[in-house]
Amino acid sequence: MEKKEDHSLEVLLTAEQITAKVNILGETISRDYADAYEIVLVAVLRGSVYFTVDLSRQLSVPFILDFIGISSYGGSSSGVVRITKDLDVNIAQKHVLLVEDIVDTGLTLNYLLKNLIIRNPLSLKVCTFLDMPGRRIVDVPADYKGFELPDVFVVGYGLDYHERYRNLPYVAKKNLEG
Ligand code: IMP
Ligand code: MG
Repeated sequence: MEKKEDHSLEVLLTAEQITAKVNILGETISRDYADAYEIVLVAVLRGSVYFTVDLSRQLSVPFILDFIGISSYGGSSSGVVRITKDLDVNIAQKHVLLVEDIVDTGLTLNYLLKNLIIRNPLSLKVCTFLDMPGRRIVDVPADYKGFELPDVFVVGYGLDYHERYRNLPYVAKKNLEG
């Protein structure tokens, strides 16, 4: 935990708001997949790990947890993405739920969806914790979403600024001048 008070942060979503939303998402997803034999929950490393773990605890449907690691060339919103850690599970003929921390420009998600769909999953859906529709460059579908936020830089609950702040239990706007 960041113990020192950090004046560059302004809380946008409290831990209580996040917990309530994760509970609702868990119920909705469990209901939607109630008839599925199992689903594959794919967390995108590293930001979505926190959200994925909390969400997974609210699921009543059987699931396999897997991870995909990506890194972007030329800055996070260049859209030029490379897989640094591939899935361990073969997702062919499986229901796949891709779990993201944030959909911003949509470039990362667009790349991931194209990469996963050619593996012939039975179904492929997206659950994102945060959505910043105002920043979209590519139109990508989010089947489930936690919160929509305006175009600001946010940290916490998995989201980082140079690897810092991931462990904050809330989401805060990070003042980059501060
Ligand atoms: P994209 O622009 O939709 O491709 O988002 C790519 C990635 O940039 C996300 O998965 C996050 O890891 C990161 N990102 C985008 N916006 C923010 C933000 O406000 N705070 C922290 N990370 C962000
Ligand atoms: Mg990310």
